[in-house]
Amino acid sequence: MFDASSSDASSVHRTIHRLDGLVAVVTGAAYGPKAALGSVFADALCAEGARVVVADIVDAEPVAAALRARGGQAIAVRVDVTDEASVEALAAKAEEAFGRLDILVNNAVVGSNIPPVPIGALDVAAWDQVMAVGLRGSFLCAKAAAPRMARNGWGKIVNLGSTTMQDGLPNRLHYVSMKGGIQALTRALARELGPQGIRVNTLATGLVANPAAGAAFTAKPELVAAIRADRAIPEDVTPADLTGPLVFLCSRDSDAVTGQFIVADKGGFFT
Ligand SMILES: NC(=O)c1ccc[n+]([C@@H]2O[C@H](COP(=O)([O-])OP(=O)(O)OC[C@H]3O[C@@H](n4cnc5c(N)ncnc54)[C@H](O)[C@@H]3O)[C@@H](O)[C@H]2O)c1
Repeated sequence: MFDASSSDASSVHRTIHRLDGLVAVVTGAAYGPKAALGSVFADALCAEGARVVVADIVDAEPVAAALRARGGQAIAVRVDVTDEASVEALAAKAEEAFGRLDILVNNAVVGSNIPPVPIGALDVAAWDQVMAVGLRGSFLCAKAAAPRMARNGWGKIVNLGSTTMQDGLPNRLHYVSMKGGIQALTRALARELGPQGIRVNTLATGLVANPAAGAAFTAKPELVAAIRADRAIPEDVTPADLTGPLVFLCSRDSDAVTGQFIVADKGGFFT
């Protein structure tokens, strides 16, 4: 029987930070235009002890400064995830600042907050941009991170996914197709990098409610209400709802989990 007064060290509960000693790169982690999930993810990883590189094409220093003000270790790095040299420089800066690279969160995106476009009006430039940031960007970041993780025999890559890929959400062919590609990337990378100790998973959700994002979220309150009502747990999904699953996927707790599509959306209707 468990004895709380036991002096056996193995029975003593201690507060531990699950990501102590680890270094994480989160892309798209400035205060973004829609849900700003990246900045919330950076904060959650920092709170668990990770040293965090807050990466974005726009200035992410306000996020890094906020993390440092809360006692975390964080730097901001400008990166264009579509550009291989820029991504390689990001990975090099992470190593230069913190000595290693263990966790990559592929979060950067364009296209999650653009209005619906029917196929006839969807131009090639918009398609290419969504693919370049979401899919090429995730590939390039994984390409730069993998050899650094492999040196330690362990690493975690989390690709942000979307249930729109399963739903087949119409009028967003570029975004939905890109997210389909993300899950294919997750599967193939999990097999390719697994022998080097690198785990790769997709963390997916549905519409995330962040009223602070303003018009992008509130423009269609009736749609938001319908999505909420269809969920098994009929509530909004907030950025904070995703941090527990993210930390799990970045920590040793999930070392047996790889190649998976993990959905945290309060039981969306189509999933
Ligand atoms: N918001 C949602 O409802 C929702 C739902 C499901 C999945 N997701 C996924 O979660 C992730 C974050 O979504 P969000 O709504 O927080 O996005 P967001 O639009 O708020 O932020 C995206 C960030 O990516 C950055 N970015 C754009 N192009 C870049 C580039 N070339 N290089 C580097 N950074 C670049 C932007 O500057 C921005 O800070 C995305 O992968 C998205 O597809 C979001």
